[in-house]
Amino acid sequence: MLPFIAPSLLSADFLHLERDIEMVNRSEADWFHIDVMDGIFVPNISFGFPVLEKIAQCARKPLDVHLMIVDPDRYIDRFRKTGAEWITVHYEACNHLHRSIGAIKNSGARAGVVLNPHTPVQLLEDIIRDVDLVLLMSVNPGFGGQKFIVNTYEKSSRLKELILRTNSSAMIEVDGGVTLENAPKLVAAGVDVLVAGNTVFGSADPTATISKLKRC
Ligand code: DX5
Ligand code: ZN
Repeated sequence: MLPFIAPSLLSADFLHLERDIEMVNRSEADWFHIDVMDGIFVPNISFGFPVLEKIAQCARKPLDVHLMIVDPDRYIDRFRKTGAEWITVHYEACNHLHRSIGAIKNSGARAGVVLNPHTPVQLLEDIIRDVDLVLLMSVNPGFGGQKFIVNTYEKSSRLKELILRTNSSAMIEVDGGVTLENAPKLVAAGVDVLVAGNTVFGSADPTATISKLKRC
């Protein structure tokens, strides 16, 4: 199976957001990856509902909304109403992760949990059958264009083992520093979805780069 490709709009040109969204619409990409940052959980602030509403009007592929915010339960229904098809919350930001995952599913969205680079996959043992997706951060969240953390290959393999052992149907997504060089190794380790910001939007031909990632 070819991996899903989820270009991260954080690296798009915000002065020409519609143009960049249309490029993704026409490309072989599968999802839009949307990074929401609150300046507290991560040391950066990205964008909120007004921008997401406009993205949702124009995007013709599922919105994969990555919430880098504290206490995300407060906003789950609103993100769903604004068009999120996938909502992922950080393990490190949820005191009651099981409840947060339930709230996402009740909203009608597909539910994912995100692990920071230092958070071991073993901590998911008792939630892995309840989630639709696990997103492994391969950089410390907060910024696009950072260097890929090599430990993510082994971490992806360990997560794949956990999923197989527990009969979970969770997909594996990797986010941060994904390139044409590391993408094939991630897919070989069991990764289903590749997020790419800088690699796509920083390239001379973003549409062709998406196709290359798809066939990595
Ligand atoms: C980082 C974000 C990523 C980021 C990826 O906190 O979660 O989605 O946009 O960008 P690249 O692919 O440039 O590392
Ligand atoms: Zn992200």
